Amino acid sequence: MKKSVKILSIVLALVIVIGCFAACGGKEEPKDESKVLVMATNATFPPYEYVEGGEFVGIDVEIAKAIANKLGMTLEIKDVDFGAIIGGVQSGKFDMGMAGMTVTDERLESVNFSTSYATGIQSVIVLADSEYTSFEDFYTGFDADENPAGVKEGIKIGVQQDTTGDIYSSDVPAKWGFGEDNVIRYKTGADAVQALKSGKVTAVIIDNEPAKSFVAANDGLKILDGEYANEDYAICVAKENTELLESINKALAELQADGTIDKIIKKYIPA
Ligand code: ARG
Repeated sequence: MKKSVKILSIVLALVIVIGCFAACGGKEEPKDESKVLVMATNATFPPYEYVEGGEFVGIDVEIAKAIANKLGMTLEIKDVDFGAIIGGVQSGKFDMGMAGMTVTDERLESVNFSTSYATGIQSVIVLADSEYTSFEDFYTGFDADENPAGVKEGIKIGVQQDTTGDIYSSDVPAKWGFGEDNVIRYKTGADAVQALKSGKVTAVIIDNEPAKSFVAANDGLKILDGEYANEDYAICVAKENTELLESINKALAELQADGTIDKIIKKYIPA
């Protein structure tokens, strides 16, 4: 074979190989900032997600941005009703839901959850001069198994609709709820807190950190001693979207290992 023909055939072979890599994309996912990661949240939940100066801020917002960075994607936040997050993730309208969202067995029937990145506690807010000292005081008494026997007359619990505060409170007293009829559901936790201040409800049951924020922002409120429930927060992803779930879990593990998540949480929740 002539030297020039040989070189030509090598060049041609290279062109074919490189062309195939370009077409097939190769193994490595190229970084592409035009790829958008759509996160659904409900930005009424300080310090996890809220609006400040027209911007979404908070623990979840910052962790989500860090995850998007790791995935080479641009984060886009959709602020929706809390109860619309899971359905929208299921239908593919949103890639993921991140909203201080508690992992529950019932929700796991509809969506998958990432590894947990934070924990929460359901707290009980009452008026500062409330006659009640613990949520146990809301019950008439306890049965032989130490479960509540009934709810005191006039007790009304305010919650954010579709949250675990709503779900647990709406259960029967024997399961530490207050009965469907004694729960008043509001669009946001802040609305429930306003109802408490105006005497429409006896207490608000909501996650501890938002509870602290609301108590700090409003005069005349306090948090009762005792934990109504303990929870794990995680990111929800559609059942079939296992690839994204794995990428999120990998990113979370890295952000946990290098201290980023700790740093973000400490920024919003000083010890
Ligand atoms: N942790 C509770 C739940 O999962 C409340 C979350 C509310 N989040 C919000 N962004 N409003 O039900």
